[in-house]
Amino acid sequence: MSLSKNDTDLDQEKYLREATRHFYGIEKPLKYGPAIETLNDLIQALYVEFSTNYVNIEMVNHLMLSYKSNPKEWQKFAKFDRYKYTRNLVDTGNGKFNLMILCWGEGHGSTIHDHSDSHCFMKMLKGELKEIRYAMPSTRTTESTTLANTDDSTENDLERHESLEEIGQRSMSLNDVAYINDNLGLHRVENPSHSDTAVSLHLYCPPFDSCSVFEKNSGQKINCTMTFWSKYGQKVTYEK
Ligand SMILES: [Fe+2]
Repeated sequence: MSLSKNDTDLDQEKYLREATRHFYGIEKPLKYGPAIETLNDLIQALYVEFSTNYVNIEMVNHLMLSYKSNPKEWQKFAKFDRYKYTRNLVDTGNGKFNLMILCWGEGHGSTIHDHSDSHCFMKMLKGELKEIRYAMPSTRTTESTTLANTDDSTENDLERHESLEEIGQRSMSLNDVAYINDNLGLHRVENPSHSDTAVSLHLYCPPFDSCSVFEKNSGQKINCTMTFWSKYGQKVTYEK
């Protein structure tokens, strides 16, 4: 049985997905935007923005840029794991957006992934992160759903084994915000430091719980379900 959503939810989701076709992010806060003093201000302002179907996505970007990191406000959500980066849920935004804090230990990094047709804002709260972007491979190169190589050497298979094209890199420092959607490509994020941790605040809209993960050398993808390490400051335990 599939989950049903009310028409309001669907209208906003449709609008947001359509907006990923033309929104590229803003680099500076807007002159007319509201001031954001605290993490709570940010969350309240996001609720206001998402209360309408026609979300002003530029304003959402402004709000993320305007908040200045205060560790006292977000520390309770920042849970680290020794072996990999963690995803820690802060707020589900009435089902309209997901706000989460990612904690990156020294040298931790993500896979190369897409964002399931959603908007993704990533703001630095502590330390530095490196973002590497790749062009979205053509459909023909991602038909296979397995990462395993095959011996089949038909022309189509050869076409599927094209490595991803790197299209840019950037370093992100305290309070920087990066924006990406599937129209702009794929990315991988890593903490390049071997002595300092990093913490980032992520907003996804519409929310999603699975995405595609790509293998760099072949361009092949698999679907990946994402989980939270903690929710609202409490560790999540998943049944095996
Ligand atoms: Fe991402």
